[in-house]
Amino acid sequence: MGRIVTIIGTRPEIIKMAPVVKALDALDHEHVLVHSGQHYDVMMDRIFFRDLELREPDHQFELKVRPPHLQVATTMRQVAPVAKDADLVIIHGDTNTTLAGGLLASKQGRPLAHVEAGIRSFDKTMPEEVNRIIADQLSNLLFTPTPTSRENLRRENVTEGVHVVGNSVIDALLQNRAIAEKRSDVLSRLGLKAGGYLLLTFHRAENVDSKERLARALVAFERAAHEAGLPILFPIHPRTVKRLREFGLEKRAAAQPSLQRIEPTGYLDMLVLEENAALVMTDSGGLQEESCFFRVPCVTLRENTERPETLEIGSNVLAGTDPERVRDAVRRQLDADRNWPNPFGDGTTGLQVAETVAAYLG
Ligand code: UD1
Ligand code: UDP
Repeated sequence: MGRIVTIIGTRPEIIKMAPVVKALDALDHEHVLVHSGQHYDVMMDRIFFRDLELREPDHQFELKVRPPHLQVATTMRQVAPVAKDADLVIIHGDTNTTLAGGLLASKQGRPLAHVEAGIRSFDKTMPEEVNRIIADQLSNLLFTPTPTSRENLRRENVTEGVHVVGNSVIDALLQNRAIAEKRSDVLSRLGLKAGGYLLLTFHRAENVDSKERLARALVAFERAAHEAGLPILFPIHPRTVKRLREFGLEKRAAAQPSLQRIEPTGYLDMLVLEENAALVMTDSGGLQEESCFFRVPCVTLRENTERPETLEIGSNVLAGTDPERVRDAVRRQLDADRNWPNPFGDGTTGLQVAETVAAYLG
């Protein structure tokens, strides 16, 4: 029997790894789940264990309020005793938790698997891009969502151990959509109607850590709401809350009547909010994929994306944060034909990962 150590720590890792963790738990191997503690607010962490019926981690660490290099260093130090005799360490995505898990496995000489491997924005100013590249270079098993991400790896001379398995975001969506529709009362709670609002999430370091860019984005939000003739619902990430406060922009945001700011939501509420939105505006990776699945048009408030499949099929366009560009993109996407296919797989990613891991461990 082999020992698998899976490391998660942030909102998207908890959500997208939930189906993978369940599939790995069903194997005939020891499966140890580790939470780095990178995300820790109830609405960034615990709520997703409940909503996705994910079991408790075997090891829960604390990482509160540390700069990125200490998130990585502390996670490596804290997880080391757990990972030291792993037969396989598994990481997901592109966060500081991902990087810490990858480096740790490498330094301890343990085999490494990366879920959601090979996606690239080709923008190394993003911390996530650096984390992905390093994680992929260190991995023995690489689970890519699409042929495009496999091709990205090939260009970096990574060809061994690569498996195209779709994205587990689809597993989570298929497993939870009906549950969300049944259980979530978020529309009535917030007084919203299907198709009667735009949904916004906005938290990327490159967008919110600059006062000028964040201030300009507030103007863009106003322009978008005006163009659509609809209010914007904005579940707001703690990083963005902190920056608005720090930059003295909170009053300005509060004075925008079309911008309804709420706490981050749970997963089931978010699914219902996405499915019923007239349009999604976001800088999140996960929301670009989920809106594509729901056939709700997306405007991505970034200059690039590591999800080019969504641009190719027209479910998504890039608009940066320039107000005129955002307004034009919103107009175009509201009129978009919504019959695009889903490029991210059939919801069997978790099972495919588990099967490959079982074959690898023998
Ligand atoms: C991280 C990921 C990003 C991902 C995002 C998902 C990295 C480099 N970035 O960014 O790719 O899109 O998670 O949401 O890992 N905070 C709280 N409560 C929490 C979590 C965070 O207050 O529960 C605060 C932190 O104290 C910190 C800020 O938010 O001041 C940023 O958190 P951090 O985990 O460093 O990065 P994210 O912006 O969440
Ligand atoms: N999400 C959520 N509530 C929110 C915002 C996001 O449940 O208020 C979910 C969303 O549905 C998706 C995931 O969180 O599954 C995306 O996480 P995030 O945007 O934080 O990270 P990214 O995808 O950009 O790495």
